[in-house]
Amino acid sequence: MTTSVTKTQLRLGVNIDHVATIRNARGGRHPDPVRAARAAAIAGADGITAHLREDRRHISDIDIDRLSREIDLPLNLEMAATPEMLEIALRHKPHAACIVPEKREELTTEGGLDAAGQTEHLRPFVEALTDAGIRASLFIDPDPIQLEASISLGAPVIELHTGSYAEQSNEAGLFRELTRIVNAAAMADELGLECHAGHGLRFDNVGAIAAIPTIRELNIGHFLVGEAIFGGLDSAISRMRAHMDEARARKSA
Ligand code: PXP
Repeated sequence: MTTSVTKTQLRLGVNIDHVATIRNARGGRHPDPVRAARAAAIAGADGITAHLREDRRHISDIDIDRLSREIDLPLNLEMAATPEMLEIALRHKPHAACIVPEKREELTTEGGLDAAGQTEHLRPFVEALTDAGIRASLFIDPDPIQLEASISLGAPVIELHTGSYAEQSNEAGLFRELTRIVNAAAMADELGLECHAGHGLRFDNVGAIAAIPTIRELNIGHFLVGEAIFGGLDSAISRMRAHMDEARARKSA
């Protein structure tokens, strides 16, 4: 597939959910995810991502309120397609809202949204977010059927689920999953969808994704918060930025 976008800045959205996971392990206020968002801004993040889950296992309603009021970076609110979450999004008006599938029993977001199978359920959510001036995004697997469904829903943005790529431990599996992402990102560009990606990205696997020229933003959380234990959050974020920028520069050189 041909691509029309060749050289674009790749944005880094830092997902701070797991700062809240650590705070909630003890209750209380430490560590504060809003402080992490401030540190992320200084370290070179282009946006902050937070997932307000139905069970509030990490990010809380107060966190969303404070992130909206206290942080200057664009906020990307990850949310399930439920009336409760839509009401919260419309109240806070984040820069973007990424609709994700959500199951109570899962450890993290497993698999992408079935946009093709849930078109009629999702349509009013995409419309309401768009009408409120919030960039609606759909977190989907790198699958042409899901891209077509995203277009039919009128979503301006998709985020490709990179979890399956990140889990591969051999060359053949990595190649297979990377090819799916490369093809989906090219298709998104042809369809006029802004393409983001995320889930399971680390220093060792981010380069191949960052090198895909039509991807505009990566959302990364768990690895950065884990790495922060060893070298600090600012170092983890600036090293991730450097990996992304190097891969992008190599590709467009
Ligand atoms: N993007 C979306 C839509 C997600 O649900 C998540 C996980 O919360 C991420 C990105 C970040 O994934 P990770 O924490 O594995 O970097």
